Amino acid sequence: IKNIGVLTSGGDAPGMNAAIRAVVRAAIYYDLQVTGILRGYEGLVHGDFIEMNRKSVANIIQRGGTILKTARSDAFRTMEGREQAHAQLLKHNVDALIVIGGDGTFTGANLFTSEFDFPVVGLPGTIDNDLQGTDFTIGYDTAINTVVNAVDKIRDTAESHDRLFIVEVMGRDSGLIALRSGIGVGAEAILIPEANMGVEGLITRLESGRKDKASKIVVVAEGDEVGGAFNVGEVLKKKFPNYDIRISVLGHIQRGGKPSCMDRVLASRFGVAAVEGVLAGQSGVMVGQVNRELVFTRFDHAIKHIDAQEVSPAWLKLVEILSL
Ligand code: F6P
Repeated sequence: IKNIGVLTSGGDAPGMNAAIRAVVRAAIYYDLQVTGILRGYEGLVHGDFIEMNRKSVANIIQRGGTILKTARSDAFRTMEGREQAHAQLLKHNVDALIVIGGDGTFTGANLFTSEFDFPVVGLPGTIDNDLQGTDFTIGYDTAINTVVNAVDKIRDTAESHDRLFIVEVMGRDSGLIALRSGIGVGAEAILIPEANMGVEGLITRLESGRKDKASKIVVVAEGDEVGGAFNVGEVLKKKFPNYDIRISVLGHIQRGGKPSCMDRVLASRFGVAAVEGVLAGQSGVMVGQVNRELVFTRFDHAIKHIDAQEVSPAWLKLVEILSL
């Protein structure tokens, strides 16, 4: 292995830059060349490659977004697109690939590595934290802190006006952002796709809660089966005509901003481990951290949507107990 390619793909996540920096620095440390690939698999297919050096990753550890840019590529979903991508790698003498992203990224990487027997190692970079084989993904910690900061502000105004706020957070297929940030803000209820609480369950929760409480916060994951904050709002407005209800969709602010120290360190550790993994012959795997130890998990296992440890009855009970 003489030249490692690196790309970011799918939704960006705070800490992706720290991960790129770690990959580049580790590669240089081990006397390798590094090729940056722009706009994820889209740039891979079209040959948007740049040479990277020590300086190209200076002063980026603290920056949100990704200097390599990112995309969701339709071309790479086709065999023709992947053949083109493979040809580009050969043309640019790239011997192995490090991909930073989430489940879509690893689904593509899994196909690519098996079809072309090309070494690929992944780094979990997604705010959703919905991958197996790592306790935390890069970006999750920053995102939940962004949510907590935003909802603390909402709580101030909710309290002043005696209002109920329904706050929608990201997580198309996963309620982990909602669950952790909901506990962090002291939400009265949390709706997540995995728990199936439904609107009836939510109504029961609100009815059994304290009547004298001035403000109420309901955190809803975007992927919840009720269909997001506006649908939940419609139902609650009918059921509780006396509540003054407002809706707030936090949206993409959750994906931006300076990465937290936790995310920077996780990304740095994963970046170095990915390069060392490639050199040790690892392929078709994602780097992760489980109980503080670095582990490699096969892509096909990493992307399985097994409910994460937190979406367990014990965590849901925690929410119930604390929302009294
Ligand atoms: O996967 C990360 C994520 O932020 C999800 O939580 C969210 O559903 C999705 O990306 C939004 O994607 P887009 O940026 O395409 O709107």
